[in-house]
Amino acid sequence: MSHTQSVYVSHCGGCHGIEGISGPTFVPMLRNAVGSFACTDEGREYLIRVPGVSMSLIRDDQTLADVMNFVLITLGGTSTPPGFRPYTAAEVHTWRQHPLSDPEFLALRAHVLERSLAACKKAK
Ligand code: HEC
Repeated sequence: MSHTQSVYVSHCGGCHGIEGISGPTFVPMLRNAVGSFACTDEGREYLIRVPGVSMSLIRDDQTLADVMNFVLITLGGTSTPPGFRPYTAAEVHTWRQHPLSDPEFLALRAHVLERSLAACKKAK
């Protein structure tokens, strides 16, 4: 197992599953799903701003960028667009300072996902 993968397992795997499969819970499935957000800039940003990511105890931005690139490229599988640009430490640094907060979370998630899915479709 790579270093990045073991960081994922210890900081994220407890909720999201070591393979990104969270089962029938309120924790979203990452495996073959999370990449659907990555076809727009706002979607890329959303994935860093979700509380489990932005407020992660992984404080080092480069390490968190590596973990998110593992999440998108490996766990995201078929859902991740072929042209996915890996996250940089600078992007993570900027976006994690604005964690998403509760009230409008689900509505925001739905809109971000809808626009990204439309962009993914156009890119094909
Ligand atoms: C305590 C459990 C928990 C931990 C730990 C956790 N998450 Fe999450 N994650 C969630 C829940 C629950 C959501 C749904 C949004 C919310 O309610 O915050 C979520 C949402 C997400 C999303 C958005 C997916 C979508 O479909 O909207 C991503 C990406 C993500 N988490 C990745 C990670 C990564 C990477 C880590 C480790 C750095 C991590 N999470 C740690 C529970 C967790």
